[in-house]
Amino acid sequence: MQKDKLPEVGTTIFTVMTSLAQQHNAINLSQGFPDFPCDKALKKAVQKRIEKDYNQYAPMAGVEILRKRIQKICQEHYGVHYDWEKEITITVGATEGLFCAIAAVVHPNDEVILFEPAYDSYAPVVKLFGGKIVPIALYPPDFQIPWETLKEKISSKTKLIILNTPHNPIAKVWTQEEIEQLWQLIKGRNIFVISDEVYEYIAFVPFFSVRQHSQLRERSFIVGSFGKSLHVTGWKVGYVLAPEPLTTLLRKIHQFTPFCVSTPLQYGIADYLTTHPDFYQKTLQLYERKRKLFLNLLKETRFEPLNCQGTYFMLLRYGHISTMDDVAFSQYLTKEVGVAVIPISVFYSGNYSDNIIRICFAKQDEVLIAAAKRLATL
Ligand SMILES: Cc1ncc(COP(=O)(O)O)c(C=O)c1O
Repeated sequence: MQKDKLPEVGTTIFTVMTSLAQQHNAINLSQGFPDFPCDKALKKAVQKRIEKDYNQYAPMAGVEILRKRIQKICQEHYGVHYDWEKEITITVGATEGLFCAIAAVVHPNDEVILFEPAYDSYAPVVKLFGGKIVPIALYPPDFQIPWETLKEKISSKTKLIILNTPHNPIAKVWTQEEIEQLWQLIKGRNIFVISDEVYEYIAFVPFFSVRQHSQLRERSFIVGSFGKSLHVTGWKVGYVLAPEPLTTLLRKIHQFTPFCVSTPLQYGIADYLTTHPDFYQKTLQLYERKRKLFLNLLKETRFEPLNCQGTYFMLLRYGHISTMDDVAFSQYLTKEVGVAVIPISVFYSGNYSDNIIRICFAKQDEVLIAAAKRLATL
């Protein structure tokens, strides 16, 4: 019998809740994807490229015009320079970018610091490459970074720190001061950083990217996703920004995983970004409106929203409604009330219990209105 490399990995809570939602005909606010279409012009841009026969392998690091477009956006939007040839790589969604970045730097017995609750695709990859997870829990209501604990947990074995801003599921955005504080703790040490910034354009407070920290960026992989920015999660097109030495390591892995990313999708996205340079304002306006709509709808319920600084997720406290733990309560909501949600305890590796669930508000207005109506019955 072959030994399982990831014995603790089973079916994810997202799959479980989605199938429960289907069984019970519940409104699905659990999984994080938009239920509305992307811009028609984006679909047309890709169709055009397919028709014009852009259908063979793309260059390993990504097509030139898309990488040049990302270089331009970094310059104009963030005021920073990343060289399209040496420092920008197109990946199969952020997920592949995260995989390759972790694989590039983690060796057996290296320690990797994760802030929990943590998005579920980091830890298994760290383990696959023999790394050891050192979790640091953040707690509601503010999910403050426990700087003293972080300082204590950093050791000579620490190789990597993974952060996520804006953060899924807690909707926190790291401030410039927090990024600077992180730098102060790791400078002078051989520690790398992965900053998962897939929700970079969905921040309702000022967003400071790790790429804007002139020293920290020299140690960092910044991971982005067009799936999130352009409402096309199923296309799985993402990117990684990293200084040349780190990009070289990352591409060695990328070259032998997918090798390259879908050609017409890359060209189509590049064409669309050229004709729609205001795409990120539109994305932000859309989610700002949906966030406000859902917050208003929640006033008719007994759920208490926690501060949502970014992403299209929101945490809701239900302590006034039930004493059930969050897994039981999420199942109850799905089966009995008809709204599927995600418990946040699943994002922690240790025991964690608080009466908080996560919802996704990247849904059509009618869906949010119908879900809130059901939640108001409690
Ligand atoms: C924090 C975070 N990182 C990465 C991803 C994966 O992005 P992609 O679909 O581009 O692989 C997600 C998707 O939900 C996410 O929430």
